[in-house]
Amino acid sequence: MDNWPHKHILNLSCFSQEDFQMVLKLADRFNTAKYSGENKVCALEGFLVTTIFFEASTRTRNSFELAAKRLSAYVQSFSPSSSSLKKGETFMDTALTYSAMGSDILVVRHSSSNVPFEISKKLDLKNSKTSVLNAGDGLQSHPSQGLLDLYTLTKFFSNSIIDPFILKGKKILIIGDVLHSRVARSDIWALTAFGVNIVLCGPSTLVPDELENFVNCPSPPQQKDPVKSRGTIKVTRSLENAIENADGIIVLRLQKERMSKNMLRSVNSYSKEFCLTLEKLKRNKRDIPILHPGPINRGIEISSKIVDDYKNCLIEEQVSNGVSVRMALLYLLSKSQSTLK
Ligand code: CP
Repeated sequence: MDNWPHKHILNLSCFSQEDFQMVLKLADRFNTAKYSGENKVCALEGFLVTTIFFEASTRTRNSFELAAKRLSAYVQSFSPSSSSLKKGETFMDTALTYSAMGSDILVVRHSSSNVPFEISKKLDLKNSKTSVLNAGDGLQSHPSQGLLDLYTLTKFFSNSIIDPFILKGKKILIIGDVLHSRVARSDIWALTAFGVNIVLCGPSTLVPDELENFVNCPSPPQQKDPVKSRGTIKVTRSLENAIENADGIIVLRLQKERMSKNMLRSVNSYSKEFCLTLEKLKRNKRDIPILHPGPINRGIEISSKIVDDYKNCLIEEQVSNGVSVRMALLYLLSKSQSTLK
């Protein structure tokens, strides 16, 4: 695990298959160790991990903080409502302040795309040792969620050894508000890297046809895709057929807070057509896995019956896998820092 090549973790578009495999293998080791309560390992002793969330979060923030504590790091967190943001301080000056306090890793979430990237660029220009881990930026990227979804699906289809190539050729259906979803974008980078064929389904306002070309244009400044051959992406409007042929489904939250006017006729009409219910799921004759990154809107994009009663609804497993995946990411960044020191 000593050859982790990234100082920052910003986007899964620059991950090679080896990078993904390294994260999953390590996450699985942390996962099977079953940490609980005070039970910890000392891998990050002496490291300071700071969570800077400019946008709300339950799962990501708390699981990063738990992951850091389980690795014996010192954890510091930032609360926008009681911070000097209120006095006009910028996000950049906030990040530089925490770096100046000696943070080894900044875990950053922001409602605007590229903020974690901008922070990492500034820190590098200042020759800072601080790493930046993107915990969700705007519509662009949520790498730890993409990785935990890859891990959760790999575990579901594996007998014992964790190898994401087990997903090759599988059809994973993503339903809903793809346009506003950084989770969907990170899931697509992670899953297509192992030959998964993605089907996107939703109204054209939320699932534009152009998304079929999404992996053909990595965001600047990245020039080259490190994965030679990826799975495909198809857009469909026919949910029933898509469900029938799916090997797994990821349901997305309808992000009403990010929508402009007229994107939907009404939430009710959206739910009637696209909310995943047991009735609609009956089109598929197998017990396929159902994922949702959370937070869920019961009855809008997914029914309570699926969340509470369907045996392969993996939402809680995603949450618990998230801690192990985030332990792996913090551990790998700490190793790359030791190499740079
Ligand atoms: N999935 C996810 O990012 O959830 P939070 O917004 O609660 O962190």
